[in-house]
Amino acid sequence: MDNFSFILPEVDKADQGKEKIIVTYKGKTKELVTHDYPAIYSIPGLYENLFYDTLNCQSPKVVCGLLGEVLKEKDASPDELVALDVGAGNGMVGEELAGLGVDKVLGVDIIEEAAEAAHRDRPGVYDAYYVQDLTDLPGEVEDEINEENPNCLSIVAALGFDDIPPQAFASGYNLITDKGWVAFNIKDEFLQKNHPSGFSDLINRMVDDDLLEIMEQKHYQHRLCLDGTPLNYYAVVGRKQGDIPNQMLSGLQ
Ligand SMILES: C[S@@+](CC[C@H](N)C(=O)[O-])C[C@H]1O[C@@H](n2cnc3c(N)ncnc32)[C@H](O)[C@@H]1O
Repeated sequence: MDNFSFILPEVDKADQGKEKIIVTYKGKTKELVTHDYPAIYSIPGLYENLFYDTLNCQSPKVVCGLLGEVLKEKDASPDELVALDVGAGNGMVGEELAGLGVDKVLGVDIIEEAAEAAHRDRPGVYDAYYVQDLTDLPGEVEDEINEENPNCLSIVAALGFDDIPPQAFASGYNLITDKGWVAFNIKDEFLQKNHPSGFSDLINRMVDDDLLEIMEQKHYQHRLCLDGTPLNYYAVVGRKQGDIPNQMLSGLQ
């Protein structure tokens, strides 16, 4: 494997996802931002080194750990779960789910480089991996996913920030069966009433309309921002009670 190195320029203030990094790989140096996933996944080991070793990201372990605790509490067996891991990236969540003993994991990500990195870095973790936009899923892919009867949805480090919008979250939610398990994380401020991301309105409505039962939630540090600020998130584990109806879907961002 070719080595890479990176420098994190010292800054007083950085915006999450737009933090600059200077990476050298195969003799070339270029400036990237932290949410430039195609470029980051293309360099083996960079994603883990940057987000997990350097910026202390805890999320795949925290979210999947919380799911594991709730399953245990409810006497539910992980080997009966078929998980749909949305925003799967290079497979860190798939690996945690497999570690819990989940029967099958299906990955979905919008970029080809994520699928390539998942196959390269964690071969065999995903039973299938779809490069698709969940807001515009072709019928045949939807049928293929439905045939697996997914009964668990995981979305980690992927909601908001120009990644997965409420509409794609809702489409993924409607792909899993009723009584399916839902495990995701989201920046704490996104759950404040009327947050412009649209997530607090959607999730509150899902709970109020008995479409989602929240079983457990945990406030924790997702990672550090490049300026050292802790980025605090909620890990949420719940159980699906029903599909999000079309009239609710059509109003989503
Ligand atoms: C920070 S990564 C998280 C990867 C992985 N879940 C983890 O925790 O390591 C966010 C991922 O969401 C993906 N993504 C962004 N928008 C998406 C969309 N609309 N549908 C599916 N995946 C999307 C990105 O390509 C990226 O791989």
